[in-house]
Amino acid sequence: ATIRDFRKTLLDWYDEAGRDLPWRHGRNPYHTWVSEVMLQQTQVNTVIPYYENFLATFPTVADLAAADEATLLKAWQGLGYYSRARNLQRAAQQLMTDYQGKWPRTAAELEDLVGIGPYTASAIASIAFDQVVPAVDGNAFRVFARLLMIEADIAKPKTRQLFTEIIQPIVDPQRPGAFNQAIMDLGSSYMTAKNPDPAHSPVKAFDASYRAGRVLDFPVKTKA
Ligand code: ADE
Repeated sequence: ATIRDFRKTLLDWYDEAGRDLPWRHGRNPYHTWVSEVMLQQTQVNTVIPYYENFLATFPTVADLAAADEATLLKAWQGLGYYSRARNLQRAAQQLMTDYQGKWPRTAAELEDLVGIGPYTASAIASIAFDQVVPAVDGNAFRVFARLLMIEADIAKPKTRQLFTEIIQPIVDPQRPGAFNQAIMDLGSSYMTAKNPDPAHSPVKAFDASYRAGRVLDFPVKTKA
């Protein structure tokens, strides 16, 4: 099986069975960014109404940059981790003042914005700007550790770089955002942490740990 077969199998499945989520409708970097920040510590189903309300309250980056604190915190109320909301606003202000409201398009440049780390930068770059980069979150660690039986310890900070290098050439160059979101959907369906169903996974033909009968041995993660 080749990388091209893998991409096609994954994306055909995603087009057929991927979740229809509100932030998957357009390709507005502001929308992608808000959704990714909310999804960092909060479940998809909880995020949906907050996401809709937040964008109705602050339709553009300029609106968010100019928002008063009370309105901002009220829109975030219930999501917790309020530093996320404050960082969103600070980055919106940074975009308005330092970037004239124009988004940088590469993951490296996006990381210069307040609160945007490697995962969020890659998610925005791939989903909104078609940059061919892997978005390495917990799902990507788990999915690729299992597919490829990667033994590296994901508790070690350096392992992210290793996974990024391994996944980079696998990302679909035509549809990097769809590729990354398909991996997230695999990670929350057939390839969950505790109750995976690898026998019915669309990519089981590419799943080395399933073939070896060792799905739950991956990812390797030491306790700190
Ligand atoms: N979790 C983090 N980002 C996500 C996305 N874009 N879609 C679904 N779940 C996610």
